[in-house]
Amino acid sequence: MKLKLKIWRQKNAQDKGKMVDYDIEGVSGDMSFLEMLDVLNNQLIGKDEDPVAFDHDCREGICGSCSLFINGEAHGPDRLITTCQLHMRKFKDGDTVYIEPFRAGAFPVIKDLVVDRSALDRIQQAGGYVSVNTSGNTQDANAIPVPKSDADKAFDAATCIGCGACVASCKNASAMLFVAAKVSQFALLPQGKIEAKRRVLNMVEQMDKEGFGSCTNTGACEAECPKGISLENIARMNREYLSASFTANE
Ligand code: SF4
Ligand code: FES
Repeated sequence: MKLKLKIWRQKNAQDKGKMVDYDIEGVSGDMSFLEMLDVLNNQLIGKDEDPVAFDHDCREGICGSCSLFINGEAHGPDRLITTCQLHMRKFKDGDTVYIEPFRAGAFPVIKDLVVDRSALDRIQQAGGYVSVNTSGNTQDANAIPVPKSDADKAFDAATCIGCGACVASCKNASAMLFVAAKVSQFALLPQGKIEAKRRVLNMVEQMDKEGFGSCTNTGACEAECPKGISLENIARMNREYLSASFTANE
């Protein structure tokens, strides 16, 4: 296939940035989207030009680092996959493909397609963990009964990979789906109850501090999430937040 690529190029955080056109040939439908960018970068390096910077690590849909906005959609035109799992067979010969970074005030561009998503890490640090009693009389986790339906929902929430597609897809750049997944994965389990109040209050406070927008229930986050994280988690987080706010001083 031959494709016309329109790629966001930005030298550094201060640079204004602009879309730049590239023509690429010999793209196979079996290539992943990132492999297609590798081919482009080899061509650019061969011409002594600066290769396009983009984030990636596992290339297996696990790490959440390959966050690209492709033809106006987070992670591209397929559903329930990350950019590294997107294959070029989803495009046709002669197509024009727009490739941009995830855009949000809380995700400043570092270079080209690479954004700083450490705001999500700071939210996680504010409460996305459970403390473990290591005094010697720790209860075996397997001896704590958990209803199967709760375990399944907690596991579904825990599949969030922190990619930020929910933020990039939301017209308000809200991080509610991410935070809701991280709150829910513990709220549903007995192990998460001890710090539950503090967790939801601190994580929401950090989310606001980082400059993410509010949720207005448009559902774009759920539609574009590569892991299918459900809006049900936002409802759960809101319940957790309300109850923690009313009883915070108890
Ligand atoms: S909720 Fe989905 S879209 Fe948002 S960070 Fe987690 S995996 Fe990515
Ligand atoms: S490179 Fe890790 S999820 Fe895509």
